[in-house]
Amino acid sequence: MSIEISNLTKTYKVKGREITALNNISLSIKEGEFVGLLGPNGAGKTTLTKILATLVSPDQGTAFINNINIKNSKKIRQLIGPLFGENGGRSLYYRLSIYDNLIFYSSLAGVPKKIAKKRINLLLDYFELDKYRDVLVMKLSTGMKTKVLFIRTLIPNPKILLLDEPTLGFDANTSDKARNILEYFNKKFKTTIILTSHNFQEVDSLTERIVLIDKGKIIKDCAPESFKQLASKNFIDIHFSMKKFNKEIFSALISQVIGGQLVEIKRKEISKNANIFNARIVAKKFPIIETIALLNSMIVERGGKVFQLQPYQPSLKEAFLAYLNSSEKKYEENIEQKIKISNR
Ligand SMILES: Nc1ncnc2c1ncn2[C@@H]1O[C@H](COP(=O)(O)OP(=O)(O)OP(=O)(O)O)[C@@H](O)[C@H]1O
Ligand SMILES: [Mg+2]
Repeated sequence: MSIEISNLTKTYKVKGREITALNNISLSIKEGEFVGLLGPNGAGKTTLTKILATLVSPDQGTAFINNINIKNSKKIRQLIGPLFGENGGRSLYYRLSIYDNLIFYSSLAGVPKKIAKKRINLLLDYFELDKYRDVLVMKLSTGMKTKVLFIRTLIPNPKILLLDEPTLGFDANTSDKARNILEYFNKKFKTTIILTSHNFQEVDSLTERIVLIDKGKIIKDCAPESFKQLASKNFIDIHFSMKKFNKEIFSALISQVIGGQLVEIKRKEISKNANIFNARIVAKKFPIIETIALLNSMIVERGGKVFQLQPYQPSLKEAFLAYLNSSEKKYEENIEQKIKISNR
């Protein structure tokens, strides 16, 4: 099911001050897309997710899920599966057991009892909660409560999953399980998924599209691979061996022969016949592909061997930090500009 968001704006009023959580956001998501929502704290991610989950109404703008206006909250709630991890399970009934909570919420969602029971048993087993099924929610750990939320969200097999930090507090094994099951739903049922997470590996491994939000605005909307280019610094990583090696000579060759600069080099192991190195080089004079070819022949011509040679692959986290640093810089430049103007 598709999601169409047009010009959404949401302002909160706190003690007479206005906080713009969302500032004219438009976004179109196709059926079966797996979208990662990224952004610093306070960017507006939860506000956007809550608007789509019909828990908060926007001041301006519209959103449609499967061509149904989100104002029609009754219909919308039948299509979506929201999960707010930061609630830490507070939306569960603390005085009911895990099983009774899940039975109760499945009936609210209109899942026939027989099907609900089957799915609950399967998911309790999958998330290793089976032996705790009769334990009261108030006695559960943080991660266990989030597991119950996760199961509750999946039971109705919603067409759209709105997941806001759904794996908060999960241990490594449970995080993997959560990832696998989300991937399964996305592939098997073509479930459209919007995932907000500060776990970059999770977002990188699952999503095919990154929407970066900052200060209530969409800053970037692209594939994870092109988002990562924000942090590409023209680095090349090489794993190679050379019989005779001198760091100063090597560094000089890098600058003279390939027009680059040696950033770092580490000796990996020394055998009788060869010194093996890991080095990072930055391409300066020539494009990165050309520099890679020049570097390869430079080493081979000097009797060395190249085991691996590739452009450095930045992570999603690095790209995100690169964005924050650059926006921080812009912010500082802006302030400086303002100070200059006021001094005139
Ligand atoms: N109920 C509320 N009342 C007043 N202000 C709010 C409320 N909810 C959110 N805000 C403000 O709106 C802005 C966006 O908040 P939001 O929770 O959407 O951010 P977020 O991107 O989810 O951040 P985080 O990564 O920390 O979860 C923040 O400045 C926040 O203080
Ligand atoms: Mg949030």
